[in-house]
Amino acid sequence: MRFVVTGAAGFIGSTLCDRLLADGHDVLGVDSFTDYYARRIKVHNIRDALQHPAFQLLEADLVTATLTSAVSEAGGVFHLAAQPGVRQSWGEEFSVYVRDGILATQRVLEACRTARVPRVVYASSSSVYGNAESLPVAEDAPLRPISPYGISKHAGEELCRAYGDGFGMEVVVLRYFTVYGPRQRPDMAFHRFIKSALTGRSIDVYGDGSQTRDFTYVDDAVAGTTAAMDRGLPGAVYNLGGGARWAVRDILDAIQTIAGKPLVLQHLEAQLGDVAHTAADTTKARRELGFAPEMDVVSGLARQAQSLSDRLRNGLLD
Ligand SMILES: NC(=O)c1ccc[n+]([C@@H]2O[C@H](COP(=O)([O-])OP(=O)(O)OC[C@H]3O[C@@H](n4cnc5c(N)ncnc54)[C@H](O)[C@@H]3O)[C@@H](O)[C@H]2O)c1
Repeated sequence: MRFVVTGAAGFIGSTLCDRLLADGHDVLGVDSFTDYYARRIKVHNIRDALQHPAFQLLEADLVTATLTSAVSEAGGVFHLAAQPGVRQSWGEEFSVYVRDGILATQRVLEACRTARVPRVVYASSSSVYGNAESLPVAEDAPLRPISPYGISKHAGEELCRAYGDGFGMEVVVLRYFTVYGPRQRPDMAFHRFIKSALTGRSIDVYGDGSQTRDFTYVDDAVAGTTAAMDRGLPGAVYNLGGGARWAVRDILDAIQTIAGKPLVLQHLEAQLGDVAHTAADTTKARRELGFAPEMDVVSGLARQAQSLSDRLRNGLLD
């Protein structure tokens, strides 16, 4: 099968490309290498894929490129490209979220409609729930995003629904819950915490550390993503959460243990848009996708720490 992956040089997209290639598929990866974080990190993410004969990279901006020919022979499109990050999404920056999150999604869906692509899988986020009334949260809970980023993902989901309803397209929406592991984006908490532990620099911790997250190891998120392409129900929405809910302060303790030295913490105020707690009800994904996350947080953290330490040694991090 030939698949298109947008956001192919990013954290989750590059891991998905490696999985699809290992499973024997042809992959066209599309990425514009936005400057949200360094290009050299993204190039490193796809270094193995670039050596693979079944991988092709199209460096293109989804908002301006002609996409129909790129997706025309695809058995499915995984649409992961977007502007991520909750805290940066306020103020002037929102225009980037509208462009790379909403407009890019509409253009991908339009190209897939024209080219009659059999199936699209869209990467949404737990951020669409906002502060859920009860936890764990199921897919039919009310959506009340509390950040402009969450609103951009909600809009992306609604575009998927409208194209599905309007044109009979098979679109499956996935709500990822805080994904971590090797290649995690430099702005994300585990990356920042581990890097500080490795370099001895102080760590900015937002809030008092009591906030909890349902952390999802990247390979588990990718397994749920390929399963959604294989057997997700058209028009369905699935939570993909790792199933272990940890407080940020307990994560810091675990990182201290892995690093073998105390961390220097600098507590800052909780950031507007950050939800207090997340926890996914994954009953539907388990039943319909066979989703069964395997990685425990301590082992996953250790793997991410090893990979970050390798990258530091290779001069890939500031
Ligand atoms: N990482 C998480 O924990 C998490 C959680 C929930 C949802 N998500 C969603 O998953 C997806 C992937 O997230 P990630 O953490 O891998 O982010 P990432 O920033 O590492 O990857 C996104 C990639 O998309 C590319 N891109 C952005 N705009 C583009 C455009 N207009 N044209 C072409 N390429 C473009 C970027 O260059 C980048 O390489 C995003 O849609 C994000 O909103 C991620």
